[in-house]
Order: sequence, then C-alpha cells, then structure tokens
Amino acid sequence: MKKKRVLSGMRPTGKTHLGHLHGILENWRDLQDEYECFYFAADWHALTSEYKNTALIKESLTEMIIDWMSVGIDPQRSTLFVQSWIKEHAELHLLLSMITPLGWLERNPTFKEQQEELAEKEVNTYGFFGYPVLQAADILMYKGNYVPVGKDQLPHLEITREIARRFNYLYQEVFPEPEALLTEVPNLVGTDGRKMSKSYHNAIYLSDSDVELAAKIEQMVTDPQRAYRKDPGDPDVCNLFPYHRIHTEAAVVANIDTQCRCAGIGCRECKQILIKRVQEFLAPIQEKRQYYLTHRSEVEEIIQAGTGRARKVSQHTMAEVRDAMRI
Ligand code: TRP
Ligand code: SF4
Repeated sequence: MKKKRVLSGMRPTGKTHLGHLHGILENWRDLQDEYECFYFAADWHALTSEYKNTALIKESLTEMIIDWMSVGIDPQRSTLFVQSWIKEHAELHLLLSMITPLGWLERNPTFKEQQEELAEKEVNTYGFFGYPVLQAADILMYKGNYVPVGKDQLPHLEITREIARRFNYLYQEVFPEPEALLTEVPNLVGTDGRKMSKSYHNAIYLSDSDVELAAKIEQMVTDPQRAYRKDPGDPDVCNLFPYHRIHTEAAVVANIDTQCRCAGIGCRECKQILIKRVQEFLAPIQEKRQYYLTHRSEVEEIIQAGTGRARKVSQHTMAEVRDAMRI
C-alpha cells in the first residue's frame, strides 16, 4: 500500500531551540516511520517578516537543516528541501492568489496578531498578507495528506483547505484536502517564564555548550512563592518541572515531585539534576551537529538531492494545474 504523504515547513529565522525540538522536530522524526515525509525550509515565508535582514535567513538555513538531521530526521527516508529553490512554489502561489478572496485573508487571526506583535518590523505588506496563500501552495504542491503543525497554524491550514476546495470546484479535482496533525506541544517556557523565543533571549539552543546550558538553567525562574530553601515548593507552577518530565527518568521525577512539596529538595539541587540530564540529552545531538558542520559539502549534496526529488513532484503537479486551468 502506498504510504500517505506528510508535509511540513519551518522558517529559517534563527537558531533551533528546545521548544522547536520537543514541540515539532521530534514529531517530524517519528512520522517518518509511517509516512512519506517532505520537510522544507520556508525561506520565502521567513522573508515576509525578515525582509530587512536577509542575512539572518541565509545564516540560519543550512544550520536549521543540519539541526533536523542531528535530531534524527533522516534524509534517506525523508525529502529535505529549500522552498526558494523550487520556483514552482512561486507560480502556484500566484495562480492560487487569483482565486483566494480577500476576506479569507482578512479574517485570518494570525494576520492580525502578527501585525501587532511584529509592529516594529512593519509587516504591513502584500507578501505578508498573502502568507497563507504561499503556505497553501507549499502544501498543495505535494498533495500532502497530513500537515504536522502547532495550534497556531490551524487557521492557515483551514485556508489551505478552502483554497483546495475552491480550485477543485472551479477547474478540476486536482488537490486532496490536507488534514492537520496537531502536535502535542509540551509546556516548555523560556528561562524567564515567557514563551521560548529567540526574540525574548530566553531560549535554550541545541548548540548551547555545557557551560551556557548550566548558566541558563541556573537562572531559571522556579516556583515564585518559594523564597527560601526551607519553604515547600509547587512543581505545578514551576517552570523547571516540565523539563524534568521530558528529560529525567520517571522515578526521579516522581521523587522530585514529592520532595519539592515538603522542602526535601532545594531548587539548586533540582536544577543540577536537570542540567546533567539535558547535557546528556544534547551530547549525541551535538556530536552529529558537529559532524555535519564540518562536512558541509555532504550537507549541500543532501539538500540538492532532496530539492531535486521535490522539484520532480512539483513539476508534475504544475503540469496538472496548468492543464486544469487551461493556462
Ligand atoms: N507557517 C509555518 C510556520 O510558521 C511554516 C510553513 C510554511 C509551513 N509553509 C508551510 C508549515 C507548509 C506547514 C506546511 O511554522
Ligand atoms: Fe521547581 Fe525543583 Fe524548585 Fe520544586 S525543587 S520549585 S520542582 S526547581
């Protein structure tokens, strides 16, 4: 039986952090067992918010794909590629833009939110407004059945489905309607308690050295009610505890849970346990990263090969699209 197809993209706008890893990439990795997977660097999408700082996109792009491979996304099994290297994405974006009513884009909640959030970046542009149309082109191009995304991306996926329906209705049945595969995102906050994000300078990166990592975890905000070592704590409100749940053995986590509540363990000791666990977790990832960072031409070849495979699919789809539209 033919495997169903999964497709997802990530914008190259900085270094990979633990939020990306546990929230998205581990899911991408596990999906490889069951599906034919296409994963790509959405550098044109990065441009919608970073058009003034294109150097960042260039710097992040290869490293981001290296990070994917370092956490087990396997270029032998999955097709890894770069959006902007496949010009068919631009063509499909343009064609789909012709049939996308403005209202669908105006209603898009992420458009409004992001405009406020990124006010200083001036995202009041045509390109940014059309972000979901470009995303629809990415997805429909590969006739993806499933799209693993976080909750924040659901409105974009809904627009993709609407565009697919409209295309199929106006011309010919070309596109399957993709479904979201909602990623269970663990509640990992940054070191200051806010959402982990490079713009808040609170992220733990895959590339952090042991020393950097220890420093970051040591300054993490724990239970704010716990002022002194002798005060009992509450793991349920502690920013550190969700990390323990991911990185520490269940028996130890259970022990921390009870000991914290009766002041049997202090935050400093608790942090030292976590530092060790995360260091052990990152060590093999960093080893693979180091390998790829020093074997750049091998990485280039991998990305070229993946992009070549993706291009074949995209050319095939575009032939169908032009045929359906008689253009
Ligand atoms: N918008 C997605 C994000 O910011 C990135 C993206 C671009 C994407 N094209 C896609 C995700 C296609 C899934 C499918 O995370
Ligand atoms: Fe958090 Fe650990 Fe301190 Fe409890 S002991 S408040 S779980 S850091």
